[in-house]
Amino acid sequence: MRHILVVGIGTGNPEHMTMQAIHALNRADTLFIPTKGQKKADLAEVRREIIARYVTNPQSRTVEFALPVRKVEGRSYVGGVDEWHAAISETYVRLFLEELGEDGTAALLVWGDPMLYDSTLRILERVKATGKVAFDIEVIPGITSIQALCAAHRIPLNLVGKPVEITTGRRLHESFPHRSETAVVMLDGEQAFSKVTDPDAHIYWGAYLGTKDEVVIEGRAVEVSDEILKVRAEQRARHGWIMDIYLMQKGEDFDDL
Ligand SMILES: C[S@@+](CC[C@H](N)C(=O)[O-])C[C@H]1O[C@@H](n2cnc3c(N)ncnc32)[C@H](O)[C@@H]1O
Repeated sequence: MRHILVVGIGTGNPEHMTMQAIHALNRADTLFIPTKGQKKADLAEVRREIIARYVTNPQSRTVEFALPVRKVEGRSYVGGVDEWHAAISETYVRLFLEELGEDGTAALLVWGDPMLYDSTLRILERVKATGKVAFDIEVIPGITSIQALCAAHRIPLNLVGKPVEITTGRRLHESFPHRSETAVVMLDGEQAFSKVTDPDAHIYWGAYLGTKDEVVIEGRAVEVSDEILKVRAEQRARHGWIMDIYLMQKGEDFDDL
């Protein structure tokens, strides 16, 4: 039976790799690297660097493949994602059949950790459901962008005894600060922080965390929002892409006890 290792690689710093992840990569016959077009070439480069630095197994080989791009025009959000996952699933079927022997082991190098805002595991279940190729799955956890953000700001994630919500820019207004006083926001294409008007809201923002280009800003949201917008736009123009995350918080440890 084919064996698929889903390996969390951390968020851009090759030193985020755990010993478990390094051992997993060295167990694989085939290492799959997704490429996401020229703009996000840096992300494929991090994976190449990880392989060059840590893989010592002379039997293994690397296969790069173009990850299908999500189409948004004329589609609902859910419809667009479903179509996109179906296309990636077809790509995996082809790769596993063509690039992996029946008893082969492959590694998929997943950004951060596979459980957090990543659909690799979901899509692999979809591949299984096609009945076209059989395999089992092993997951190796990795350092997430939430950990990288908290480390960069030297802060704990939660206020004492209080919950944390992980959400997207689209949904920030539903949660913060009435549902949870700590919200971690990922995949925010609309800079939802700039619409927060609560004077007590504090933001901890970071982009390219873990990489040599890491940039962080923190302060009262109403005071630093414009600066984040400016830095974000400059950085995005410079790199051609951006990955940023932030934590919005209101309140203090123990303030409801
Ligand atoms: C598709 S999700 C993948 C998350 C990943 N699985 C993880 O464990 O962090 C991509 C989002 O994660 C966040 N992210 C990932 N890596 C990041 C980094 N190095 N710096 C800042 N944000 C990052 C951003 O919010 C980005 O939009």
